[in-house]
Amino acid sequence: MTILKDIVGRSEVSAGADDCPNEADGTMRFGVVLAAAVLIAAPAAAQDGFDEWNAKDIMRTCAPCHGEFGQGGGGGVYPRLAGMNADYLAEQIAKFKSRERENIPMIPFANDRELPARDIRDVTRYLAGITLATRLPETTGPVDGLERLLQAKMLMQIPRADGDIERGKQLYGEQCGVCHGREGQGRVTKPPLAGQHTDYLQTQITNFKKGNRPHPDNDELFMRTTRRDMDDILAYMSVLDD
Ligand code: HEC
Ligand code: HEC
Repeated sequence: MTILKDIVGRSEVSAGADDCPNEADGTMRFGVVLAAAVLIAAPAAAQDGFDEWNAKDIMRTCAPCHGEFGQGGGGGVYPRLAGMNADYLAEQIAKFKSRERENIPMIPFANDRELPARDIRDVTRYLAGITLATRLPETTGPVDGLERLLQAKMLMQIPRADGDIERGKQLYGEQCGVCHGREGQGRVTKPPLAGQHTDYLQTQITNFKKGNRPHPDNDELFMRTTRRDMDDILAYMSVLDD
């Protein structure tokens, strides 16, 4: 239910809460709290001009590759974008435009004509606000079929990658955690590594090694570490969302 609300949008969330303001049920109370938070947040959002409908319109261009909910796909060719920091996403689009970061599939979509600043702001804000669940919510009693279908569509579980998880955990803690967060959850514009497709992360590491994409401390972090080290780190990342 909460996942649904994240995507269904603000107006419907607050409308639902208004319908039964005195409902004592725990789920509904959550709805009311959420609606109140949205009401407080709404004027601020309007002031800086976030346009959710524009974002959804732009998403129709991104969805064939990145998925309807920004979950990525193609076995990790297309990265997950949902739930990532909006500033990080915007920075990467800027880097695609300037060709500082190479991305051949996205060239036609990430230029000033196709994706002006306003669109970048809207779509990145929108993507940052999407929460993907790692498991289906428990159900007691009858479930609405359509709601369950949407919940299933918005599920994202990274399959366990091959490697020594314990060793990966240690290496990650020593070398990566300070920037990417203790649990790989990311830190502001340092992207999350947990919850991201393993093959996509692997491709990026290859890009760092080849010098096709800049990464801080590249010489120490990627030029000297072995393939096995990286596999173990990625194995650890792959189980963090279990
Ligand atoms: C034709 C397929 C395609 C389309 C359409 C597309 N992308 Fe991408 N995008 C990619 C690929 C492939 C990558 C990964 C490139 C790489 O391996 O470095 C990527 C990477 C990204 C990244 C970097 C993610 C990260 O973790 O660093 C962002 C941000 C992004 N895309 C945003 C968008 C947005 C927003 C749209 C819609 C306006 C869009 N993309 C449309 C193929 C596409
Ligand atoms: C000093 C801080 C720092 C450390 C330490 C660090 N990273 Fe990063 N990492 C970054 C930043 C910043 C970016 C985004 C780079 C950009 O803007 O393109 C990044 C990006 C990445 C990406 C690409 C993610 C994506 O969504 O495209 C991967 C993969 C990655 N780092 C892996 C690692 C691993 C593995 C380690 C440990 C061996 C590590 N990083 C250590 C700062 C760091």
